[in-house]
Amino acid sequence: MQFEASRRRIDEAATLVAGGVNSAFRLGVSPHPLVFASADGPILTDIDGNQLIDYFLGMGPMLLGHRPAAVVAAARAQLERSILVAGQTETEYAAARLLVDLVPGAELVRFSVSGSEAVQAALRVARAATGRSTLVKFEGHYHGWFDNVLWSVSPDLTVAGRPEEPVPVPGSAGQRPDPAVAVLPWNDADLLRRRLAGRDVAAVIMEPVMFNNAGILPRPGYLEAVRAICDDTGTVLIFDEVITGFRVGPGGAQQRLGVTPDLTILGKALANGFPVAAVVGRHRYMQLIADQRVLHGGTYNTQSVAMAATVATLDEIASGRPYRHIDPVGERLMDGLRKEFSDAGITAEVVGYPAVFQVRFGAADPRDYREAQRADRAGYARFAAALLHHGVRVLPRGTWFLSAAHEAAHVDATLAAVRAVLADGALRAATGESAR
Ligand SMILES: Cc1ncc(COP(=O)(O)O)c(C=O)c1O
Repeated sequence: MQFEASRRRIDEAATLVAGGVNSAFRLGVSPHPLVFASADGPILTDIDGNQLIDYFLGMGPMLLGHRPAAVVAAARAQLERSILVAGQTETEYAAARLLVDLVPGAELVRFSVSGSEAVQAALRVARAATGRSTLVKFEGHYHGWFDNVLWSVSPDLTVAGRPEEPVPVPGSAGQRPDPAVAVLPWNDADLLRRRLAGRDVAAVIMEPVMFNNAGILPRPGYLEAVRAICDDTGTVLIFDEVITGFRVGPGGAQQRLGVTPDLTILGKALANGFPVAAVVGRHRYMQLIADQRVLHGGTYNTQSVAMAATVATLDEIASGRPYRHIDPVGERLMDGLRKEFSDAGITAEVVGYPAVFQVRFGAADPRDYREAQRADRAGYARFAAALLHHGVRVLPRGTWFLSAAHEAAHVDATLAAVRAVLADGALRAATGESAR
């Protein structure tokens, strides 16, 4: 496959749009960022005319696939009624009802536009509730691009300090120094217990399954231990379920893994591609927003069309239909990938859930970000780049998102592409040494 039209268009557009793209995470991909003409079901069509089986799914949101009929119909119908009213609509109450029914930790809801913003609302609530200012986050976890959380998301280990006492590493030039952020390794309850003993921490925030960087499950008992430590020390526990929400299960990782946080951040699959996120949580915390002690605002919060899409998406999620479809298709894909890697003699791990999983070369069962760095990340990125030339678009960092629009036939075509890539001598040589 050729991607020349995309390359030319990105080069031209870079005179108009910084870098030719509108999010940092769309740069740094091989062979270069792509320009798309359309998207339907599990298929992207780019301006070169290539049809690609899509496992980016908009970086996760498109749980029902691209342009699912029910969501498109709801958004179209809403356009006949209103776009933005700076007031309330029945639609946003219907969406909130669905969230409260689906997510164990959701007693009260506030909608935002992006996950990054909703994280900020949760942190403000936690600081107000505790009268403390320090935030504990974990190495390798991502909670949006704002200054106070963009620490040690993918730090260079040569400047990141000792494993048990990481030095917060900024993710961007121009980021404000933040003495109120402490970074810890994930999956280590003892270190967390020690850090929280001083009762000076407002909140602990984590992805309950770590997907942004490496795809790591919590060790058995870890989430329960974190819950107990937060309770003992009066610390607010925040699960950032922007990726895991509605993908690990209809009630998120908290439902599947059986640990309920105080506050939860939801986004991405919540509205199947429309810009909607939410902070939800226990009454006693969310009441601070209701009382107007904590300010949470946003001109575009509960924009009518986005809310109509949210209700249509959550109705589907609540029906269980997407999971009945995705579970067997995703398992076919995960098992198929394991077999292809094994047949090719490549040591690889496929971990996670049918709707979101991680593929990594080498590095058996890492416990945290640092252990995951032992994987052959460069080899995997080359594999992902090679797959694109066989019509399959996967994230270079190893996360695969699956939708209810992917059928067994797409999985089989994907596995055939994987086989073709693995048969290629150049890739085997590249991945062979560190992956075997
Ligand atoms: C776990 C997590 N939290 C927060 C965010 C930020 O969400 P948004 O990109 O909608 O601001 C993301 C985005 O990828 C995420 O994966």
